[in-house]
Amino acid sequence: MHKKIVVLVSGRGTNLQALIDAVKNGTIPGRITLVISDNPHAYALERARKENIPTVILDYASFPGKKAYETALLDILTKEGPDLICLAGYMRIVGREIVARYRHRILNIHPSLLPAFPGLEAQKQAVEYGVKVSGCTVHFVDEGMDTGPIVLQAACPVLDDDTPETLSARILQYEHQIYPQAVRLFLEGKLSIEGRKVLVKE
Ligand code: GRF
Repeated sequence: MHKKIVVLVSGRGTNLQALIDAVKNGTIPGRITLVISDNPHAYALERARKENIPTVILDYASFPGKKAYETALLDILTKEGPDLICLAGYMRIVGREIVARYRHRILNIHPSLLPAFPGLEAQKQAVEYGVKVSGCTVHFVDEGMDTGPIVLQAACPVLDDDTPETLSARILQYEHQIYPQAVRLFLEGKLSIEGRKVLVKE
């Protein structure tokens, strides 16, 4: 039976699209069974609907607070029973309870070479810092902000005349390559975790 992937989104969903495409072309040995958005206007929802992937909107603004939101999210996840949860442009910190419940089964993609430039606007941080190389990171989600064990990274140059936008566009191409690859490795059982290190057995 195919492994179940749930994807959490907040925005335009190009990484979701990369995962959808990789499922369709057989690269990822699994199925995206549900897309959950905390933002009712996320274009990612359209992408899911076009593929007949069920969607759930958990409009963060309609909850009295983070605890209620996280309880509702955990409830949906428990009912769905995913093998893997992928954060794809999901703009919230996942709560401790969900992280504990799905330890080493939640992946995130971040647009920098972690541990450099965690948090928001990583590409802007990189341009302003003046680094010559940046890139993206797929990592497991832990309780911290972009701190979990690193699965894959890809590097690309930062050019003298880069703006946050031009750098974002360059990095994004690599995101769309390494995220499906990391999901494939996970679902094929090729990742093992030793402390902070993720060992990849191809
Ligand atoms: C990507 O840059 C990703 O690394 C970051 O948020 C952005 C989401 O883009 N976490 P998209 O919604 O997948 O197009």
